[in-house]
Amino acid sequence: MARTLVLLKPDAVRRGLVGQILSRYEAKGLTLTALEHRTIDAETADRHYAEHVEKEWYPPLRDFVTSGPLVAMVLEGDEAVEVVRGLNGATDGRKAAPGTIRGDLSLSGRENLVHGSDSAESAEREIGLWFPGL
Ligand code: TYD
Ligand code: MG
Repeated sequence: MARTLVLLKPDAVRRGLVGQILSRYEAKGLTLTALEHRTIDAETADRHYAEHVEKEWYPPLRDFVTSGPLVAMVLEGDEAVEVVRGLNGATDGRKAAPGTIRGDLSLSGRENLVHGSDSAESAEREIGLWFPGL
């Protein structure tokens, strides 16, 4: 069974959208196998976003993801990586299609509510980072 790492970022917690977003994943049929409410430091943000740390837009992203508590989870199910990214929608909330989480609930290129691993390899790396031992 495939699995993926999902973050409900600090904007989702601040806006009170955690339950609503989690419901979408559950309604789709994905199984929740780990869940943690947590505030991360800059080092953890850098490890999670290792592929982006040199980008010019990374410093404000780091500030955002460390700005308050987030909810990290592991979701399991058939093609979980692709299914979650489909539910999440395009990266930029302003361009994401209606019907997706970002398309329905975000109007920002940065504060886009959710993270989903982009491949099975990324999922294993990220699950190891967020939930060591899982
Ligand atoms: P990325 O991995 O490209 O998107 P996704 O979350 O869809 O896998 O980028 C990581 C996060 O960085 C993204 O969710 C929002 C933020 N971001 C910016 O703030 N500015 C940008 O120009 C891009 C491409 C992403
Ligand atoms: Mg990504």
